[in-house]
Amino acid sequence: LLPKKVTIIEVGPRDGLQNEKNFIPTAVKIDFITRLQESGLQEMELTSFVSPKWVPQMSDATDIISSCLNMKTRNIVLIPNRKGMERILLTPCRAVAVFVGVSDEFNKRNINKTTADSMKEVLPAIIALKGKGYFVRACISTAFYCPYKGKIAEADTIKLCQQFINAGADELSVADTIGMASPNESFSLFSKLRERFPHHMITAHFHDTRKMGLANIYAALEAGIIRFDTSAAGLGGCPFAKGATGNVATEDVVYMLSRMGIETGVDLEKIVSAIDVIRPHLSRPIESAFYRLHSST
Ligand code: HMG
Ligand code: MG
Repeated sequence: LLPKKVTIIEVGPRDGLQNEKNFIPTAVKIDFITRLQESGLQEMELTSFVSPKWVPQMSDATDIISSCLNMKTRNIVLIPNRKGMERILLTPCRAVAVFVGVSDEFNKRNINKTTADSMKEVLPAIIALKGKGYFVRACISTAFYCPYKGKIAEADTIKLCQQFINAGADELSVADTIGMASPNESFSLFSKLRERFPHHMITAHFHDTRKMGLANIYAALEAGIIRFDTSAAGLGGCPFAKGATGNVATEDVVYMLSRMGIETGVDLEKIVSAIDVIRPHLSRPIESAFYRLHSST
């Protein structure tokens, strides 16, 4: 039985933009984010507190936070380590995402640490943030495949998820970082996670590298998942995952769900107007079908 309503978590301002080579002016990002917030999206990854040397595009995180925090949307900021937590504590932001890869090979390239060493830093941070009343989301990268190691065992992904839950995380965002999962792998892993953690938010984060994003979302819906990370215009990708491309596009997902009679509360015209603002600053063409058919520019 499919749900009547699902939640879309917009990751365009963070995952979407972090993979853009040219620095996008902060004012343009703020306009993009504001339009996305006005579209009815309830939750959004706003930016990340990572090293400006590793990801220069996110170096304006403090300015983005001070201009874009609003009461209507859950605005989430990503942090990779203790330093990121210290930076969060100086802002009014109250929702945080930590991110760790199941695969050591990937995690070393992304965060310069093994998975175990990252967890040693991140789990105490989660406990501290929960103690202060923060909403904590845990993003699990390479949950299906690693660009360096290949297939990841479901048991390894579930074990990492369990550690996050034990530390008090509110949400698991489980990611197909390089868009290699098939719909049956999506159904299998998400069914197991749904059963194992029945009282937690479980979110599916699909990159659309091989155009299996919508099919994987359908499979995850059948497994009982009702939360999806998507990116306006299908932008995105992790700069440290070889071959990674964008997330499944918000407008294509919202369109599919609306055709299935599943409510998201998202106004597609407003999403198109947000994309119109960011589009002249992008280094690659927009591939989402909905945008191609509906853009006025
Ligand atoms: P490192 O070089 O090992 O760090 O990088 P370090 O601790 O040795 O510090 C080096 C410098 O970075 C120092 O500055 C630190 O202060 C600074 P310096 O003294 O040289 O001027 N630094 C920081 N600055 C700002 N914020 C911080 C921070 N930490 C240290 N939080 C580090 C380690 C984790 C910093 C680096 O590897 C990094 O920034 N990585 C982030 C990579 C990233 O952003 N990846 C993309 C997001 S994850 C993703 O996209 C996947 C996801 O979408 C799910 C999926 O699809 O799989 C979530
Ligand atoms: Mg991602």
